[in-house]
Amino acid sequence: MNILIAYASTEGQTRKIARYAADYLNGQGHTVELCGAADAKDAELARFDAVLLAGSVHAGKYQKPLVAFAKNKASDLAHVRSAFLSVSLAAAGDDPDDWKGLSDCVTRFAEKTGWTPPTVMHVAGAFRFSEYDFFKSWAMRWIAAQKDHEVKPGQDKEYTDWAALKKTLDGWLAGG
Ligand SMILES: Cc1cc2nc3c(=O)[nH]c(=O)nc-3n(C[C@H](O)[C@H](O)[C@H](O)COP(=O)(O)O)c2cc1C
Repeated sequence: MNILIAYASTEGQTRKIARYAADYLNGQGHTVELCGAADAKDAELARFDAVLLAGSVHAGKYQKPLVAFAKNKASDLAHVRSAFLSVSLAAAGDDPDDWKGLSDCVTRFAEKTGWTPPTVMHVAGAFRFSEYDFFKSWAMRWIAAQKDHEVKPGQDKEYTDWAALKKTLDGWLAGG
């Protein structure tokens, strides 16, 4: 299959996940184009058999270039196999309120863009203290403490389950 992966990433974890997905799908015999959402705006979606949009949650929202891309391409996305990969820290846990919050984020994204993703993949992201400024670092240490995540000052911590991601991608491409 010819697959486009368009992503947006603030601290780098979604970029890493998108790159991993591209390498994995390539290894499975697919042709994959990996592109930042801002650079994908001129992509001709009819050229692709499948399109994956990936972004991460920051204060309940996805990155603006990803929202713009989905909005711009909403009608084209309706004619191709598509999925939305949402990266967050809430997906690292099993708090029902957090999962409801994630579902609300996707609903808002769909309302804003006019694209309702037929498949949504929730993927756990990472604390990236190496990328945070003082204020983000302070806020994220507070969030880590609320959720009993053990983090060390200045150290990144990754929650992404790479094996599960491969299975999710396989399921998406195998389905209808
Ligand atoms: C300022 C900030 C706000 C965040 N807000 C949320 C949030 O509302 N819900 C959530 O589940 N994760 C939240 N996260 C966690 C990110 O989704 C997670 O760190 C993800 O791996 C970031 O992906 P990126 O590196 O591709 O930007 C937040 C992270 C930061 C730094």
